[in-house]
Amino acid sequence: MGKNDNANTGMRKGLTSYGDAGFSLFLRKAFIKGMGFTDSALDRPIIGIIDTGSDYNACHGNMSDLIDATKRGIMLAGGLPIAFPTISIHESFSHPTSMYLRNLMAMDTEEMIRAQPMDAVVMIGGCDKTVPAQLMGAASANLPAIQLVTGPMRTGSHRGEKVGACTDCRRFWGRYRAGEIDDQEIAEVNDKLVPGTGTCGVMGTASTMALVTEALGMMAPGGATPPAVSADRRRIAERSGELAVQMAASDLTPDKIMTEKAFENALSVLLAIGGSTNGIIHLTAVAGRMGIKIDLDRFNEMGRNVPVIVDLKPSGTQYMEDLHDAGGLVTVLREIRDHLHLDCTTVTGRTLGEEIDDAPARFTQNVVSDNKSPLYAEGSMAVLRGNLAPRGAIIKQSAASPDLMVHRGRAVVFKSIEDLTLRVDQDDLDVTKDDVLVLQNAGPKGAPGMPEAGYMPIPKKLAAAGVKDMVRISDARMSGTASGTIVLHVTPESASGGPLALVRDGDEIELNVPDRSITLHVSDEVLDKRRQELVLPVHANSDRGYRKLFLETVTEADLGCDFDFLMAQPADTTADER
Ligand code: FES
Repeated sequence: MGKNDNANTGMRKGLTSYGDAGFSLFLRKAFIKGMGFTDSALDRPIIGIIDTGSDYNACHGNMSDLIDATKRGIMLAGGLPIAFPTISIHESFSHPTSMYLRNLMAMDTEEMIRAQPMDAVVMIGGCDKTVPAQLMGAASANLPAIQLVTGPMRTGSHRGEKVGACTDCRRFWGRYRAGEIDDQEIAEVNDKLVPGTGTCGVMGTASTMALVTEALGMMAPGGATPPAVSADRRRIAERSGELAVQMAASDLTPDKIMTEKAFENALSVLLAIGGSTNGIIHLTAVAGRMGIKIDLDRFNEMGRNVPVIVDLKPSGTQYMEDLHDAGGLVTVLREIRDHLHLDCTTVTGRTLGEEIDDAPARFTQNVVSDNKSPLYAEGSMAVLRGNLAPRGAIIKQSAASPDLMVHRGRAVVFKSIEDLTLRVDQDDLDVTKDDVLVLQNAGPKGAPGMPEAGYMPIPKKLAAAGVKDMVRISDARMSGTASGTIVLHVTPESASGGPLALVRDGDEIELNVPDRSITLHVSDEVLDKRRQELVLPVHANSDRGYRKLFLETVTEADLGCDFDFLMAQPADTTADER
């Protein structure tokens, strides 16, 4: 037997229950030796590597390369790497939505970290929901954990123009709907938008989550931006493996890194990068696993002071590969340094401030502006409140139309995503460019799974007449790659009987972003009457399995859409339970 048999580390952790611990360890070692391990190897710190590769997931198409590089880093630092799978979620291959599956992946991650013997874990994710799911799982398991992402894809080229998923997917599709490009060109574009493996190359949710995770301190410094297919990406994987061995030795658990101050750092970065609105939901969910509540009013206050300084689509013009060439996240951190808590610990065991100070020197670049000449004077997002959204709604103001930021218009209501799909392009739809499109029942419970349906299409007849943007309001989410004057995450959601469910065609709605308000101009008496007559939607097949669990326990957007029973009380995990 090995020298560590009496310690609660490595192979001895979490023994399977046979009523005889010695036999459990004996059996475990017998099986793993079937793969050729020696006692000497099994005596080393064991570092798990979460493999989320899948033939459905091009965003994780470099997984085996990254696992190889991570293993190298672990072994060079004296550890034993053991890779294991969890589920993989790709945006376009997740019915009904990837958000519906995020909490399932978080449970899978948490339980497999707990169930299998390991002293630390490297979590490899990338595509939108995978990183928050892994952080949520790691937060609850509270074992030393480091996030590695697969990295952004490179850009492609269409007829001489640089393109990349998925802001350009939406832009070209919008042009196709408006009749500006034909069937042949849209087919050509389809071949070019995703030129290789990696996550979406704009400031979508994947890029956003990578950057805020580095800011949170849970990723190797410089780990957010290297492209998926690059030597830098493999070097970060090797470094992540090495760091995981150090973290195991020092028992650097997530609760020592993901503190309230660290979440404020992540929120400042979310505002400065023009990040995806999904970022606020995911950070709320991860914080909720640590027993920390993200205060939306505080987030709003921060947004008045932290400007958007990163020129990436959809708020700007460039791509993630450009941000990497501009120095990556540290270039942003330097500019917003005054807004950061520099004493927060990171996965290196050093502080964020120390990592910023020791990063490669600043140089002239054209992606990150200084904070005196920002792309947008305020943070990318604003939280709206009012009688239409008593617990809040979000607008990505940096990607909205300036002339619609204060707007009053007549509501055109769609009762569900199906209703929207059926009617939005009908010639006889009573709609003008000054109206406000309202989508109900597309929230966490309503859809279910809070799809990215908030980016409602401009009705075809208006699009054909050249209308590019309208005020759109829903309890849904929006892809970080989309843009427009779009109010999202209206809470409480309509399927819970929130005020959004009470809006009717012709009601007047007023959006005032500078005042942070959203108002339904209907009297309380009329709203009370509508509330009494309201019939909430009932989903088919909701009485079994994961769907039942989801519908019964998912929380609203202001709580991160986590399951209520997974949110933590502070410090609810003891070392013995790990
Ligand atoms: Fe995976 Fe965009 S679809 S990151």
